[in-house]
Amino acid sequence: MTVVAIDGPGGSGKSTVARELARRLGVERLDTGAMYRAVALRALRTGTPVGDEKALTGVAREMVLELGDPVLLDGEDVSDAIRGDDVEAVVSTVAAHPAVREVLVSRQRDWIAAHGSCVVEGRDIGTVVAPGADLKVYLTADPSERARRRAEDERAVASRGRGGERGDPAVVRRSIGRRDALDRGRAASPLAVAPGAVVVDSTGRSVEEVVEELWGLL
Ligand code: DC
Repeated sequence: MTVVAIDGPGGSGKSTVARELARRLGVERLDTGAMYRAVALRALRTGTPVGDEKALTGVAREMVLELGDPVLLDGEDVSDAIRGDDVEAVVSTVAAHPAVREVLVSRQRDWIAAHGSCVVEGRDIGTVVAPGADLKVYLTADPSERARRRAEDERAVASRGRGGERGDPAVVRRSIGRRDALDRGRAASPLAVAPGAVVVDSTGRSVEEVVEELWGLL
């Protein structure tokens, strides 16, 4: 059984690298960010205040989530909706609640136990969710490259008619800077390099190069 934990800030290339590494290993990938985004989306849709930790915990516990491609929330394809501006604006607040994290971490551990070998990506996988992972990676990239990648992702969502006026690198850079500060500065499981994690900088490197490096570490 091989569990790979990949953590890092937004735009570091985590999702692409995790997807490609999982494909090469022939295992499933778990995008834990999508779970926090799904809680945020369900809260917005049900009018649950994002400051109400207790109510959000109920949302996290009750949602039926299938994290394949597409992502299904209560049976509906929310792959683009969880990347929308409204979710982007509140997801860090949702993810800062310890009780919400507790519910999602427990669901993530169940998923890992059910899948055996897998690649799991997020912010606290090596530190909290799976500290015993066979390989722990902290993926990073310089801020302008991260903003450029996020802007590209946003333009892809916008081209499908969901994203509005998004995809401007300067605006994205401010928004990921704000999100990073919230993710790193929060009291509950802040984004941090896990003990024993390998720090990999993806700046100026292709997905294949980074995946090759991780492959060599397994
Ligand atoms: O990776 P992402 O942008 O989809 O993550 C969305 C938000 O969820 C972001 O604010 C960080 C948070 N998150 C977290 O706190 N813990 C995780 N394991 C994954 C994501």
